Amino acid sequence: MILVTGGAGFIGSNFVLNWLADPTHGAEPVVNLDLLTYAGNTENLASLRDNERHLFVQGDIRDAALVQKLLQTHRPRAIVHFAAESHVDRSIHGPGEFISTNIHGTYTLLQAAREYWAGLAEQEAKSFRFLHVSTDEVYGSLGPSDSAFTETTPYQPNSPYSASKAASDHLVRAWHHTYGLPVLTTNCSNNYGPFQFPEKLIPLVIANALAGKPLPIYGDGMNVRDWLYVGDHCSAIRAVLSKGHPGEVYNIGGWNEMPNLEIVKTICGLLDAKSPESARAAGGRHESLITFVKDRPGHDRRYAINAEKINRELGWKPSETFTSGIAKTVDWYLANQDWVSRVQSGAYRDWIAQQYGSRSS
Ligand code: NAD
Ligand code: DAU
Repeated sequence: MILVTGGAGFIGSNFVLNWLADPTHGAEPVVNLDLLTYAGNTENLASLRDNERHLFVQGDIRDAALVQKLLQTHRPRAIVHFAAESHVDRSIHGPGEFISTNIHGTYTLLQAAREYWAGLAEQEAKSFRFLHVSTDEVYGSLGPSDSAFTETTPYQPNSPYSASKAASDHLVRAWHHTYGLPVLTTNCSNNYGPFQFPEKLIPLVIANALAGKPLPIYGDGMNVRDWLYVGDHCSAIRAVLSKGHPGEVYNIGGWNEMPNLEIVKTICGLLDAKSPESARAAGGRHESLITFVKDRPGHDRRYAINAEKINRELGWKPSETFTSGIAKTVDWYLANQDWVSRVQSGAYRDWIAQQYGSRSS
């Protein structure tokens, strides 16, 4: 079995759902350790309610005794570590939780993993993996004509979020170099898709456009991100877990750089066609809701990932284009407006007691 951390969040829940649906891995159980912060939502995992191969545990990666107990009880062959504070704006307003969860939490997991790994029999120890899920933001900001980030681009994190992720990457690297722990690190670009918390650009814009609310664009809207459909991020992680070399870093990206304004206009165009009612309420076009607002402090101008290494060495490339991925995403949000309402109202936080109360430990 594998131990996933943060599997009730956006990418983690997509990963767990995809893992258990894929016949290659479907038989391999998942223990899903998630604290259920505001970003964790067990409604994302509702379809797994009767799945015996999914065990949800509400708990903190910073709780060393709990992590040790889970490792000893379930004896995973790998840890896939998603749990983190993930929103840049929140890190600007309150960096403390980012330092604590992203740095101290990763340290706690590494120590527990190291102790567990040291006690494994030779073959099990050899095949054990600690996969750390990180971000392209650790590399800093690119100029318009700079080459895309490679795995050897020097770290220059600019926000409290990216600095905390960079610190965690360094710890993971050191636990390999010093103790030999078989780690893998992935640095991925911006994800989008189902179950993304509507504080991030794409789900926020979809939700606001449907509600006739302003679509806030920071600064001039020309900041560039490299967007990847979440299902492709999950398939990349599976490829790294099965074929990656311990101690190596793999960049993951969508080969899809776009300025924010273009992203927002694309979503508006799709919603004009798919949601005529809200388009009418917005005076015919959702674009009329676009509102330029004060820029994010320290806002990185451009990210771009060079994903050649993972393609060359592990044979992975994204399967969705932005056109196919964003259409799927808009359709998902249109079909799941209850999910968005329950997240926005906070009602999703009652779900754990209703649905998972007896299975959490
Ligand atoms: P998210 O905020 O949606 O989910 C994070 C999850 O971690 C939540 O379920 C939360 O409850 C859980 N969590 C937080 N603190 C915890 C703790 N102390 N103990 C246990 N669980 C805890 O995040 P996401 O967007 O799904 O990102 C997942 C990972 O991928 C993060 O490490 C993030 O840095 C990385 N990443 C995200 C993106 C992106 O575009 N979203 C891109 C590249 C990398
Ligand atoms: O690059 C990977 C990173 O992508 C991940 O590591 C982070 O966890 C994830 O949150 C994401 O960070 P960003 O800051 O790039 O994502 P966000 O959706 O917050 O913003 C995307 C871009 O849109 C960014 O340039 C800021 C801008 N933006 C964002 C919001 C929320 C706006 O213009 N208006 C907004 O309201």
